[in-house]
Amino acid sequence: MAGPGIELVGREEIAEVLEVLESRHLARYGPEDDPAFGAKTYRLEQEVARLSGVRHAVAVNSGTSALYVALAALGIGSGDEVIVPGFTYVASISAVVYGGALPVLAEIDETFNLDPADVEARITPRTRAIIAVHMLGNPARLDALRAIADRHRLALIEDCAQAFGASFHGRPVGSIGEAAALSFNIFKTITCGDGGMVLTDDETLYRRCFAMHDQGHAPLRLGIEIGQRPFLGLNFRMTELNAAVLLAQVRKLDRIRTHLRANCRLFRQLIEDLPGLRFRELPDPDGDLATHLVVVFPTEAIARAVARDLGSRVLADSGWHVYFNMEHLLHKRTATMKGCPFHCDCHDGRPVEYRRGMLPRTDDLVARAMTVGIGVADPNLGSTSGVTMRDGAERVRERAAAFRAAAARHLRA
Ligand SMILES: Cc1ncc(COP(=O)(O)O)c(C=O)c1O
Repeated sequence: MAGPGIELVGREEIAEVLEVLESRHLARYGPEDDPAFGAKTYRLEQEVARLSGVRHAVAVNSGTSALYVALAALGIGSGDEVIVPGFTYVASISAVVYGGALPVLAEIDETFNLDPADVEARITPRTRAIIAVHMLGNPARLDALRAIADRHRLALIEDCAQAFGASFHGRPVGSIGEAAALSFNIFKTITCGDGGMVLTDDETLYRRCFAMHDQGHAPLRLGIEIGQRPFLGLNFRMTELNAAVLLAQVRKLDRIRTHLRANCRLFRQLIEDLPGLRFRELPDPDGDLATHLVVVFPTEAIARAVARDLGSRVLADSGWHVYFNMEHLLHKRTATMKGCPFHCDCHDGRPVEYRRGMLPRTDDLVARAMTVGIGVADPNLGSTSGVTMRDGAERVRERAAAFRAAAARHLRA
């Protein structure tokens, strides 16, 4: 299976979806005077905003769309630069590219998220935003990144696709940046197959996000408002069917989080005495969503040997999460192969290059690390040697014993 939410799909999701089908109101806009219309997309937005500690949310059809909408709403485009980590999911880079801005890759540190010092070093007069991607369930150093963004008057965008339900010193992820993106694909905390959400506390930004995701319209339109539309938008709307599944899923968030955290804690306790084994640094251990336990070995050779024995892989071998495996990025290939951001004059003709080795610290960390999935089993990440949402303590003990045996063999060698 994939993520924790999908493991729990059951009667509640089916009942919510049936309600929508029986009402025959499948789109987010429906007649207010028909009691059968559930306004589930709107209700989902309200609930996710409440849980995330922000005033506004706009439901969209994917996490990629959420990032694209957030960037557009912030007015980021041609000639602008956006700093993103070299260890991320490809969408945090491609959303910037298709927004017309230039992605500037930065190093990660032992948190496996953005290294704030490296971010600051890469700021230029063209930088407009930092995308802090909370990879593998755990928040980036949001205090330092917020301070840098404020100091340089940049927007901080939180990519919370992998971390809905995590928090940073008591604040839910998504409430610290100007805008944030969630994903509800099958690998995520909760899912409806594919879906996403933009979060913001800022009313103006909310109105711009809404317009971008719905052909330029103002929030919660009742008709076609000629003369009221601030700019051309597109259609990234979520359907009532997807929202119905998510309404049932979001009620399971506490259960998911509690279960993941208990399993992660136990797994870690069972392996943490292994000499030479280290863990990813967690800036706020209490806020970790705990979908993954990221382990770091002294050398790449040991990491590869352990991963091989467990039928897993090191993070460096993930095709979607490491910049040097994104061949389309390395070759700067877009759908049109012309125009912004790679083939245009708006960067003063400065050469833009993406190549393996450009982020040596990131390269070293991802080569020596693997993730034990605690609630996410993603073959691409190699997180399949852990446990899932359905597993209890007994299975954690079994899997931890297998990990111990493999790691001890190679750490000793
Ligand atoms: C960090 C991150 N950002 C963005 C996305 C894009 O989300 P989606 O697949 O819903 O478009 C993902 C999805 O895996 C992700 O992990």
